[in-house]
Amino acid sequence: MAKLCVNIDHIATLRQARRIDEPDPVAGAVLAELGGAASITCHLREDRRHMQDHDVARLLKTVKNGLNLEMACTNEMLDIAAGFKSLRMVMFVPEKREEVTTEGGLDVAGKFDSVAAGVARMAAAGHKVSLFIDARRAQIDAAREAGAQVVELHTGPYANAVGDGVCDELAMLMDVADYAQHLGLQVNAGHGLNLRNVAPVAAIGGLCELHIGHSIISHAVMVGLERAVREMRAEIGRGEMLAARGLSPLDILARY
Ligand code: PXP
Repeated sequence: MAKLCVNIDHIATLRQARRIDEPDPVAGAVLAELGGAASITCHLREDRRHMQDHDVARLLKTVKNGLNLEMACTNEMLDIAAGFKSLRMVMFVPEKREEVTTEGGLDVAGKFDSVAAGVARMAAAGHKVSLFIDARRAQIDAAREAGAQVVELHTGPYANAVGDGVCDELAMLMDVADYAQHLGLQVNAGHGLNLRNVAPVAAIGGLCELHIGHSIISHAVMVGLERAVREMRAEIGRGEMLAARGLSPLDILARY
């Protein structure tokens, strides 16, 4: 069975909406590991829209199964990654400031020199590198030539396809996964996967890891909301009960 690697960026997205300290992605990572995550992934973006530098450092100290650092192949990010000792994997992705999420795969063939130099720099720092690429044989050839040990096939086009396009995109993933494995690459896949579309991808032979974020965090909000409301009601009731016993609001505050 492919390993499930959980991307927890969107816990930080929620936190950054208020710029306070909850929800904490590090606590989320612990829960994801308890749920069976084979590893945790965070994307440190140039604009720091969700994960912050201190999150990466705290995650590295806390997670048990290893931390994957997703990032653009830029000098700033390469410097940061080189400063960490025990990353499980560095994942190069293309990054645009204006995008809502990673939009397409890395054009390894088109940016060969900078990607190959980035892979070499990470190897020198002791990090394995994964390249997030569109499911195209030419990108696999380029990824291998650039020295990557791992490729992650972009499943977004499959997830977003409609009608016959779904089968076409799945067939493309199957073909390219097989091609990459025969070249000796570790093949992972991810982006846009959810409870309704993951099974056919999981059935592709030889995929090592599935990297999933948004749908897991979204589903967690939904399955956890009822309990969260119940717990808030219980706490309101506790305040009222203590007041009925004669405690003032200041007495109750002193108990926290
Ligand atoms: N893999 C890569 C390389 C990504 O950039 C992302 C999104 O950060 C994912 C997987 C997870 O995608 P999603 O959040 O759509 O599950």
